[in-house]
Amino acid sequence: MLQGEISPMRSVPDQIAKPSYALTGIVERWVEPRVKTPEIIERMRHAGVVASEILTLAGEMVRPGITTDDIDVFVHEATIARGAYPSPLNYHGYPKSVCTSVNEVICHGIPDSRVLQDGDIVNLDVTAYIGGVHGDTNATFFVGDVDPVSRNLVKVTEECTWYGIEAVQPGRPISDIGKAIEQHAKKHKMGVVRAFIGHGLGEQFHTDIQVLHYYDESASMIMRPGMTFTIEPMITLGGWQHRMVFDDDWTAVTADGKRTAQFEHTVLVTDDGVEVLTAPGSVTPCAPWRR
Ligand code: MF3
Ligand code: CO
Ligand code: CO
Repeated sequence: MLQGEISPMRSVPDQIAKPSYALTGIVERWVEPRVKTPEIIERMRHAGVVASEILTLAGEMVRPGITTDDIDVFVHEATIARGAYPSPLNYHGYPKSVCTSVNEVICHGIPDSRVLQDGDIVNLDVTAYIGGVHGDTNATFFVGDVDPVSRNLVKVTEECTWYGIEAVQPGRPISDIGKAIEQHAKKHKMGVVRAFIGHGLGEQFHTDIQVLHYYDESASMIMRPGMTFTIEPMITLGGWQHRMVFDDDWTAVTADGKRTAQFEHTVLVTDDGVEVLTAPGSVTPCAPWRR
């Protein structure tokens, strides 16, 4: 695969509140309660709405002929226009405001001069920091006319994400999520990436809650009302193994070069199920095609 040119880092106006790593590239970590206060949850609802709006608009611009850098410019400006900081920017030194992962790129693709081609699939991962909290969501989009096998990969991946979301129940172990996702992927003979997982989030982009997208009984943390985390399965047309490419320490691809897709939502565990903070208005059953 080809690596394009990465344009210089973009700036964010002074009046926009920034996480501390924005200036340094160094991510401080502190102990953050897993169960959020009602006040933090309210702010996270807003961050979730902002992130999902930006993702929807960015997805609408996907077409053959644009570069992934064009998408970055759009996401950067749209985020700032909403008074938010684009969380990826300078996170552990990440140079851009969105992740753009094409075809066999599993995640964390860096926007560059690469031109999207008819038949590509591209995941856009948008995270917005506003009101002191992060909202994190992603989706995979078609570039022009996409072959049926890839279309099915994207469909099954979105289904996996929503089966994972529907498995969120207070009092249940978090391993229920990976169990539901893996079961659906297996049924379609697809692979579940193991190296990248969902995560707790709130005032920090990534906190200690780990959300495996495959079944592992040792993921025994019990879900409690007020917990917030992401569910973001990466599903492949081949195996689960990944490798890192380039020297950027970011871009992860499938080891076998097969295509991969991803969807992500930020969720809140409620007293009786789940609220999807990045899909406002969603109800149970969550999956849009089952309503
Ligand atoms: N949004 C990604 C996630 O879902 C994280 C991107 S980290 C970055 O966890 F630095 F690459 F932006
Ligand atoms: Co995430
Ligand atoms: Co994300």
